[in-house]
Amino acid sequence: MSLTVRPFQKHLVSAPHEFVRAPSVSPLDLEIGCGVGWHPIAYAGAHPERALIAIEHTREKFEKFRHRAEQHALANLFPVHADAVRYVTHAIEPATLDRVFLLYPNPEPRAENKRWFRMPFFGELLTKLKSGGTIELATNIESYAEEAKVYGNYWNLNLRSESHPQHARTHFEKKYLERGETCFDLIFQKN
Ligand SMILES: C[S@@+](CC[C@H](N)C(=O)[O-])C[C@H]1O[C@@H](n2cnc3c(N)ncnc32)[C@H](O)[C@@H]1O
Repeated sequence: MSLTVRPFQKHLVSAPHEFVRAPSVSPLDLEIGCGVGWHPIAYAGAHPERALIAIEHTREKFEKFRHRAEQHALANLFPVHADAVRYVTHAIEPATLDRVFLLYPNPEPRAENKRWFRMPFFGELLTKLKSGGTIELATNIESYAEEAKVYGNYWNLNLRSESHPQHARTHFEKKYLERGETCFDLIFQKN
């Protein structure tokens, strides 16, 4: 019996090399979908002993973030313009992340399988997190927070804290708090 080997597709094999690899530093944190960068700049400034990779895929938002980041000249902040799924998969080594931030992700009301906790990619993301590392999720949608708890259980994560932010850390959080909405913040920990 002979095996049929499919030829390599160049665009597929070259994908991992498109990315600059994540810095080999510890502690290392990751923010996905950081928008124009309020949180990553404040966080990196407040934690000079930690490194933060902050990813945003919308070009216009990323350019604003990069411009601001340059003005703050933070050596521990690494802005990345990429799709987080591809970047995390190809550029981050297993068990190297200490904290992951998912702050006000798009709620995907009509594409529920694109919600971070429901995607197969979430399993890949967890392989990049150290044991004892955390994932922080913030949302203004109660049902989204409740669903994340169910999926957190499915992914064998421990819910370490649950709170209602009162002070804005991101542009979306500011908008929701100014509207008088309740925001939900969940911190999960990997075993
Ligand atoms: C609702 S906004 C929240 C922005 C910011 N975290 C805040 O709270 O102000 C969600 C952000 O996630 C970004 N985003 C969505 N999917 C992404 C992906 N796969 N990779 C990188 N960024 C993504 C969007 O471009 C958008 O800027």
